[in-house]
Amino acid sequence: MSIPVLRTARLLLRGWEEEDLADFAALNSDPRVMALLSGRLSRSESDALVQRMRSRLEASGFGWWAVEAPGRARLVGAVGILAPRFSAHFTPCVEIGWRLAAQHWGQGYATEAARAALRFGFESLGLDEIVAFTVPHNLRSRAVMERLGMTRRDADDFDHPLFEQAHPLSRHVLYRLRRDAWRERPQ
Ligand SMILES: CC(C)(COP(=O)(O)OP(=O)(O)OC[C@H]1O[C@@H](n2cnc3c(N)ncnc32)[C@H](O)[C@@H]1OP(=O)(O)O)[C@@H](O)C(=O)NCCC(=O)NCCS
Repeated sequence: MSIPVLRTARLLLRGWEEEDLADFAALNSDPRVMALLSGRLSRSESDALVQRMRSRLEASGFGWWAVEAPGRARLVGAVGILAPRFSAHFTPCVEIGWRLAAQHWGQGYATEAARAALRFGFESLGLDEIVAFTVPHNLRSRAVMERLGMTRRDADDFDHPLFEQAHPLSRHVLYRLRRDAWRERPQ
């Protein structure tokens, strides 16, 4: 399947290239980026993750894109939508996520790329709802969710099944955005 390319005012969401591997590995080994995720990745773990993202993009026509800021940075990070493989009270679903290199935080890139991914999910894939989740203290990620108009209810909080229940990153908050609510928001 061909990989969709999404463009925004400042960004290009595109398929993964060999030249991205080193930049993505640098981001995945940065403790600031990985503090609230499942841990820093080695070069080979990062390369394997790119391979999985690439395969899923090719197989399903959506997934995690490489995000470039043309003329400014070859690789700002990764943003995408995909169907999680674990089961929880809100699955099956499509989730949106983001991971940017720390030097590119604070410029609105995550929200800008996510808006393009949401538009693709709602308009091209015809999804009714897209969710996002994170640990409660990932305030930067929650701020992106809130800027996108996603909303959270206490009753949706959950223990992520890929972590032991006692793990400090087990508890997650869930945000939802329905297509109707997205349509009503000024883009
Ligand atoms: C979560 C993450 C993607 C958020 O990145 P971010 O840069 O804070 O988010 P945005 O791209 O929406 O940028 C918003 C900020 O840019 C500022 N900004 C600057 N120029 C801007 C512009 N032209 N347009 C919009 N916002 C702009 C906003 O004011 C805001 O600043 P603030 O953080 O001081 O409030 C980033 O912190 C990250 O990669 N974290 C590590 C990985 C991670 O935890 N991922 C989430 C897992 S669930």
